[in-house]
Amino acid sequence: MTQIAKGIQKITLGNPENHTPESFRRHRMQKEIIDQLPVSKKNDDILKRMEWQISKRGITITLPMNTQENIYGFGLQLHSMNHAGRRRYIKVNSDPAADTGEGHAPIPFYISTAGYGIYVDTFRYTTFLAGTNAERGRSRAMTEENMPHEEFSESALYSLKKATEERRMVIDIPSADGVTFYLFEGTIMEIVQRYNLFSGGGCLPPMWGFGVWYRMYGGSCERDVRNFAAMFRKEQMPIDVLGLEPGWHSHSYSCTYKWSHLFPNPDKLVEDMKKAGYKLNLWEHVFVYPRAPFYEELYPYSGNYEVWNGLVPDFATEEACRIFQKYHTEQFVKKGIAGFKLDECDNSDYNPSNWSFPDSTQFPSGMDGEQMHMAIGTMYQNLIFDIYKAENKRTYSQVRSSGALASPLPFVLYSDLYNHKQFIRGIVNSGFSGLLWCPEVRDCRNGDDLLRRLQTVIFSSHALINSWRIPNPPWKQTDIEKNLAGEEMDTAQYYTDECRKLFELRMKLLPYLYSAFVEYHKTGKPPIRALIMDYPQDSQAETIDDEYMFGESLLVCPLTYEDGTSKTIYLPEGNWHHFFTKETVKGGRYMEIQAAYHEMAVYVKDNSIIPLAAPVQHVEKDTVFELYPSIWGNGDMTFTLYEDDFETFDYEQAQSKVTIRFESGKGLKIERNGSGPHRYHFTGLT
Ligand code: GAL
Repeated sequence: MTQIAKGIQKITLGNPENHTPESFRRHRMQKEIIDQLPVSKKNDDILKRMEWQISKRGITITLPMNTQENIYGFGLQLHSMNHAGRRRYIKVNSDPAADTGEGHAPIPFYISTAGYGIYVDTFRYTTFLAGTNAERGRSRAMTEENMPHEEFSESALYSLKKATEERRMVIDIPSADGVTFYLFEGTIMEIVQRYNLFSGGGCLPPMWGFGVWYRMYGGSCERDVRNFAAMFRKEQMPIDVLGLEPGWHSHSYSCTYKWSHLFPNPDKLVEDMKKAGYKLNLWEHVFVYPRAPFYEELYPYSGNYEVWNGLVPDFATEEACRIFQKYHTEQFVKKGIAGFKLDECDNSDYNPSNWSFPDSTQFPSGMDGEQMHMAIGTMYQNLIFDIYKAENKRTYSQVRSSGALASPLPFVLYSDLYNHKQFIRGIVNSGFSGLLWCPEVRDCRNGDDLLRRLQTVIFSSHALINSWRIPNPPWKQTDIEKNLAGEEMDTAQYYTDECRKLFELRMKLLPYLYSAFVEYHKTGKPPIRALIMDYPQDSQAETIDDEYMFGESLLVCPLTYEDGTSKTIYLPEGNWHHFFTKETVKGGRYMEIQAAYHEMAVYVKDNSIIPLAAPVQHVEKDTVFELYPSIWGNGDMTFTLYEDDFETFDYEQAQSKVTIRFESGKGLKIERNGSGPHRYHFTGLT
């Protein structure tokens, strides 16, 4: 056992495997910052009482767990938030229909409210039995018996099977005869910060990435893209990024990475879109079709199974990374493509036909299919990130699978599963494990459902409308069949106007969101997170999985279409100001709120400054945002903005801190420090 930084212990048991998330890490631990973080809570007992054993099936670690302990984390979990008393299978799965722990980005990292977090450095499908089991003999002294027949009830019957005494966390790692794991100490927030800083710090996307994204219909051609680009500007719908879906490849499943006949002049398209202020993002996946230009070169560096007739690259070899990177750099990144959507890397083995490779697949690096399923999404992100880094451009991209130590990677997760409540829970949970999650707008039952989903998207890390199934924007027609037939809804104008208002709201919040990400980058504090992270003493916050903090001061309570126009929400202790009506309410209680479909429940923490920008249609290289600092409360308050070029890595040398200070009685003061370019202009106080 070694202390590698303040509040982080490294424990190695037996002989760990060669291929683990740490063995592929590209970002170094931010030790200097971790050492400055306090350890406000501790658990001295946990390692002393650890037990472990190695058997033929793998290694098992047992840690003590008390009955009061809550367990959070385990990556992107869509079905539940507190995992105490549950069994979690950490296995990548594109269709996590039940609450098993599987999902697009399961991570062997959890946080306990007892003052510690555990990260197990493995790609194995690890099982965490979070207080579900006890060893033989521990119940020997139990004496309770069933109720007499006349008092029989189901609940009485089942209550007797529950253990009430101290439990255990059993961590079961198959196929390995050793493992390294890490223990992080502190409060929930400090543990998450430590984990993110251990991973290399949070990512810092370019400002344009926070603008609104529109993914085009899968069968769109060059002309459609040009028409949409012109239409959005004409209709004043702020959009920064246009995404191209499978139809841009000459063969998509698996990929050729070559433009199809639908795009005869791609270079010109990229150039013209750039002039019109749009970034282009390309859909792709890793499986390489025989007609791909680098197929033969890649062949020796791929696994011994195919997916959709395509090679599965072994990104654990330098050669496979180099081949992929060289092609992507020359053909796309140097030509101005701003990012990628890395689809289908999440073990789609629940679909018919060959959607994925077997766990027994052998790769030239020595990795097997099981490890590769857990690794491929992160490896893919790393190699794309490295291309942009080498070009001194920041990207903001999408990925359908991620894993451990991914905090520095500017990629947002998404899914085809489409339950709005689960999407909201995804926002809450992803913040525990260094992940970003997009509750994308895709199919909607009707216009009001569209508004509800878009409201959540606006208050997420990625404002995306994914229209890959519909040739016309959803605000013109939500019914897929009618959309395909080109029919507009009677209410198209109303929903267009309401969606525009939401897009503009997103654009107003850009500088505020950018600050939250700079702080994520520097301190590991997640930009979007569960209430329990900010209010650890509040027992009500322990299980709130449908509200979250968006940056430092905004508390978002999204409503779904199914909720209708009223909902019971919870606000922690203190005064809160309704972001839209400005009404002040007292927290520390549940309350019933009303919100028509075009209205939202967003609250500002008392004594906060929210800098609001005059909405621009898109972010340019030299956009200067007109800022109105809005003041919420009567006390003293500050807000820190960060100015840099918003799109390259030069912020590492040139970034300014702009502090807005409000002192009651004295008014507002703005102080600028640093050598970053001026990107904010203050026009007033609201
Ligand atoms: C899905 C993906 C969708 C869309 C589609 C295109 O797997 O999740 O967003 O890109 O592929 O075929």
